[in-house]
Amino acid sequence: MLTFTMSFTIILLTLTLHAAALPQPIPPRSNSDLSLTAQLRLADTAIERYQLLPNDSDFVFNFTNTEDLPVATSQNWPALVGVGAAISMSQLPPCSMTFIHLHPRATELFALTSGHILSSMIPETGVLDKNNTQRVIRTDLHAGQVTIYPAGSFHTQVNPDCEAANFTAAFTSDEFAVGLVAEQLFAFGDGVVERSFGGSITGEELERLRGAIPRDMVVRVEECLGRCGL
Ligand SMILES: *[C@@H]1O[C@H](CO)[C@@H](O)[C@H](O)[C@H]1NC(C)=O
Ligand SMILES: *[C@@H]1O[C@H](CO)[C@@H](O)[C@H](O)[C@H]1NC(C)=O
Ligand SMILES: *[C@@H]1O[C@H](CO)[C@@H](O)[C@H](O)[C@H]1NC(C)=O
Ligand SMILES: *[C@@H]1O[C@H](CO)[C@@H](O)[C@H](O)[C@H]1NC(C)=O
Repeated sequence: MLTFTMSFTIILLTLTLHAAALPQPIPPRSNSDLSLTAQLRLADTAIERYQLLPNDSDFVFNFTNTEDLPVATSQNWPALVGVGAAISMSQLPPCSMTFIHLHPRATELFALTSGHILSSMIPETGVLDKNNTQRVIRTDLHAGQVTIYPAGSFHTQVNPDCEAANFTAAFTSDEFAVGLVAEQLFAFGDGVVERSFGGSITGEELERLRGAIPRDMVVRVEECLGRCGL
């Protein structure tokens, strides 16, 4: 009798678990006018997130199809919600440099698949070189090599060659974001910027610097352009 009860319980439990694993209709919600990304963020469980992504093609991002930034985040690829990662597949044109930037919410793993890149990264304050000054980590990357940009570190990449450098970059946040360091620094008021530079730049000079800072992620390296005849 005891055996019967036990096995009955086990069968019941199994049935209950099985039922819980079956696709359930998503209960109607007043927030259905939210974006898919927002709905995925609000989902109670991963099971509910899968229900919000019914097509197998929801799990594919086509980098050859992007017209703007070739970066997949939870904003343009909802399937990344809850994954905690994002990815980019792109190329740095010949003779170009990515503007000094940082990612406030993610560490970046930057892998070069073709070409050549000179990478510089500045870690946090207190990381010093042998001369007791701020350490700058410079690497010379070729195809098949990967480097690390810890979250918040300033970094920049130069492609010094006459051909494009193709890369894939992975980020440890589905919404890693970018900080354009120079533009942000000069967004402070004149007094703050002047004092931050020890009074060495003032007034008109400051305005000139503000106006000259590129707004793009990629700038061209003039010397190289001449050398490559571009
Ligand atoms: C699934 O894909 C089909 C065909 O591409 C599309 O018409 C449909 O809207 C998609 N369904 C959802 C829920 O995204
Ligand atoms: C990816 O997008 C490109 C450009 O729109 C298209 O030509 C290609 O067929 C797409 N690839 C797949 C596998 O859908
Ligand atoms: C330290 O200073 C010396 C002399 O100025 C310089 O040659 C060297 O490159 C510096 N080392 C580093 C790691 O910056
Ligand atoms: C680099 O990427 C471009 C664009 O996707 C591609 O046309 C080219 O073949 C790639 N170069 C190499 C050497 O893989």
